[in-house]
Amino acid sequence: MSAFKERVFSGVQPTGSLHLGNYLGAIKRFVELQSQMDCIYCVVDLHALTIATPPDELRDGIRGVTAGFLAAGLDPSHSIIFNQSQVHEHAELAWIFSCVARVGWLNRMTQFKEKAGKDRENASAGLYTYPVLMAADILAYKATHVPVGEDQKQHLELTRDIAQKFNTDYSASIRARGHGDVFFPLTEPLIGGPAARVMSLRDGTKKMSKSDPSDYSRINLTDDVDTIAQKIKKAKTDPHPLPETVKELEARPEAENLVGIIAALTDATPEQVLKQHAGAQFSQFKSALVDVAVEKLGPLRAEMIRLAHAQDHIDAVLADGARRASTIAHPIIEEVKGIVGVVGAK
Ligand code: TYM
Repeated sequence: MSAFKERVFSGVQPTGSLHLGNYLGAIKRFVELQSQMDCIYCVVDLHALTIATPPDELRDGIRGVTAGFLAAGLDPSHSIIFNQSQVHEHAELAWIFSCVARVGWLNRMTQFKEKAGKDRENASAGLYTYPVLMAADILAYKATHVPVGEDQKQHLELTRDIAQKFNTDYSASIRARGHGDVFFPLTEPLIGGPAARVMSLRDGTKKMSKSDPSDYSRINLTDDVDTIAQKIKKAKTDPHPLPETVKELEARPEAENLVGIIAALTDATPEQVLKQHAGAQFSQFKSALVDVAVEKLGPLRAEMIRLAHAQDHIDAVLADGARRASTIAHPIIEEVKGIVGVVGAK
């Protein structure tokens, strides 16, 4: 296999407000990767259209997620930060990939089943083909690494399947055009750490999510100190004190979740957290968690509020990012057109 330049790509949907799961499972890790590889971070506004969103809310959401990226520490002079709709190559490649992906593959996507619910006939076709657009987001840049939470794992497997099938179906054309044996990399998901799957504060078996009707199920990055404290205090727990080993957390989803959250916020392992808190009652442990959450999330929230008043700055960051992203994606998509044989391509 030919060598690919290491490049990180990831995206966040601008629907609802960002929550602790988005931060710990994805955005905090985006920041860490910034110093290790070339990074491209995208506010995926076209994805947000798959579920009806009022235009004003979408516009606010795009700027809100961008503010979240910057407040968390992404540096636009270093990483490329932009919104998906401004780089038309994503949509073009998605069409070509929708002719590579198989209906059977999409039928297996569990997130579609969850989001479409019982009324599947009435879901948008975009919601169904959503993972194809996601593959296009990633491969338009030949990204080699994608940091995401665990819920995106199946979509990344599909991205690899699409890359592999494209490489195989067009192998002769790829070789003839001097690309060696493969055109697209088989992208590596970067999933892991104690917060790869942050769970609802109301039910430790359900993912923390923007769409949960209960606001008490999640900590939003825009929540103030009192709200954060109240949500943690009300979080569901069990009647036992914290155990000594991680193994003993296995059958205690709520305890495991809170331990994972404090570990991720303090860059510790769950083992280290238990070493410090074993034997503690939840009332005590929750107070410690409130202190950490407020200390870590308070400055982030303050910066998001400041940036909410700096719309021109946000828009300029996105415009500059889109220009830089296009410079990478454009020649790749032109080459894809040549490989598949559409006329007009060189
Ligand atoms: P989205 O917008 O639902 O979530 C953004 C990121 O946050 C992670 N995440 C979580 N991590 C841990 N615990 C949770 N409870 C939790 N909830 C969300 C998600 O895994 C994700 O990393 N399809 C994607 C957006 C996307 C994308 C891409 C991602 C579009 N194109 C290309 C990577 C590469 C999504 O809906 O994420």
